[in-house]
Amino acid sequence: MKGLVVTGTDTGIGKTVVAAGLVAALGGRYWKPVQAGLAEATDSATVATLAPGALIHPEAYRLTTPCSPHHAAALDGVTIDPARLALPAGAAPLVVEGAGGVLVPLREDWLFAEAMAMWGLPVVLVARTALGTINHTLLAIEALRARGVTVAGVAFVGDANPESERVIGAISGVARLGRLPWLAPLDSASLRAAMAAHFDLAGLA
Ligand SMILES: Nc1ncnc2c1ncn2[C@@H]1O[C@H](COP(=O)(O)OP(=O)(O)OP(=O)(O)O)[C@@H](O)[C@H]1O
Ligand SMILES: [Mg+2]
Repeated sequence: MKGLVVTGTDTGIGKTVVAAGLVAALGGRYWKPVQAGLAEATDSATVATLAPGALIHPEAYRLTTPCSPHHAAALDGVTIDPARLALPAGAAPLVVEGAGGVLVPLREDWLFAEAMAMWGLPVVLVARTALGTINHTLLAIEALRARGVTVAGVAFVGDANPESERVIGAISGVARLGRLPWLAPLDSASLRAAMAAHFDLAGLA
């Protein structure tokens, strides 16, 4: 497997945690192409903690403000250039983490889903299990498919919601990769154990 993109139905739903779990489980590399917000721990720093030893490529853009990348870039006086977002080379599978969700603008005229189409990697969609997830997940799948992006699977995060997790797959035809329960503590050991126990990644290979 060359790699995959981890995106989500929303911001703050567990993309970084799932990405770290995938990096550890697949022996992969991690890349956050556009980091918006530098005051808190960056996603790359979080993955370094949760997937120790993994190769982490530097971000192409490190933007100061935690907001939509198109706006964060403007506030820093830069324009995001697709040519600078070429996938970093390497042997191990590359796990690319998006910013926010599928239709987040990198520029006013260029959405994250279009970057995913440019990369040509399959996408893992991170979705919450709480009420509302059926709508948000199916919307994201439609938006990805409309741009020619392959959706390799859905990774749920949160308490079990068997009917929502089932019906999303039944309607969309997208595989359920697994569900990451809320982990306390959340560390590299608990994440690795939860990925092994709750995810089937055979379909990604
Ligand atoms: N399975 C989990 N168990 C415990 N805490 C979790 C879990 N998943 C996510 N979290 C916590 O929820 C918060 C948001 O998760 P995360 O940073 O992975 O979201 P994100 O979708 O990557 O956000 P962003 O859009 O900012 O990149 C973090 O504080 C993270 O530690
Ligand atoms: Mg993140």
